Amino acid sequence: MSSLLRTVRTVTELRRVVGAWQDAGERVSLVPTMGALHRGHLALVERGRALSSRVMASLFVNPTQFGPNEDFSRYPRDEAKDAALLASVGCDLLYAPDVAEMYPDGFATSVDPGPIAERQCGPFRPGHFAGVATVVTKLLLQSQADVALFGEKDFQQLQVIRRVARDLDIPATIEGVPTVRESDGLALSSRNVYLTPEQRAVAPTLYRTLAEMARRIEAGESVAAVSAAGLETLRGASFTSIDYLDVADAETLRPLERLDRAGRILGAVWLGKTRLIDNVAVGPKR
Ligand code: PAJ
Repeated sequence: MSSLLRTVRTVTELRRVVGAWQDAGERVSLVPTMGALHRGHLALVERGRALSSRVMASLFVNPTQFGPNEDFSRYPRDEAKDAALLASVGCDLLYAPDVAEMYPDGFATSVDPGPIAERQCGPFRPGHFAGVATVVTKLLLQSQADVALFGEKDFQQLQVIRRVARDLDIPATIEGVPTVRESDGLALSSRNVYLTPEQRAVAPTLYRTLAEMARRIEAGESVAAVSAAGLETLRGASFTSIDYLDVADAETLRPLERLDRAGRILGAVWLGKTRLIDNVAVGPKR
């Protein structure tokens, strides 16, 4: 597939293009991705277009956020197809650095996002959020973006990035975008291509369980009772294993104690070798 999307691979070229836009008074959005793009990623670009006159996407499969037994080497890669998809929704620029541009010889610094990264996915993916926080910090500083967009699909990641941007005085505005789903509720994910037809049939149970939990908590049932019932439902479905199911404060991701605060129900399960995560809002939407 060919595309007319302008592509840069170095920080110098990236800054030259973005700097020219900003000098002309334009506001510039960044959509960081690891490629294997789907409608979820494209929704971020579309939201960026609504918020700014220029939108750029980055494509970088970041090695430092994958664990030693994770899918870094088999992560789906097709830059030409991704570039064509980005062009089709009006993206202005693709930044696709290689590993040596992002992590030159001698690279040693890492961003530790603190306690928020130690909850939910944290213990199951040691080092993952430090890898994400480091590369996103670099992408924001490399690009000098005015706005950066992230999906609520990875809700803990979104809150980690908000924390880091606030703590490190990174001037970009961080925007969350609602999760794009298949018609049966399954959240779109680049990793869904790994699912067999049988696993694909089981997968929407995760979202359905989270949504039913939110409905019951909002109807007045206790968080403890609803959590127990939700876990029971997940255990009764054909998931290979369950990493966690949490009802959390949407900002801190600590256990939700007060129902007058925005909450989030988050879960992670396995189907064979594929890990699925999802989350829904519960309680006041802030
Ligand atoms: P990746 O998994 O490619 O996701 C890129 C962005 O798309 C993230 O902000 C993610 O939350 C969002 N996204 C994925 N599926 C979505 C869906 N179904 N609906 C809405 N948004 C969705 O997340 C990463 O890459 C990386 O960790 C990254 C932030 C690029 C750092 O390496």
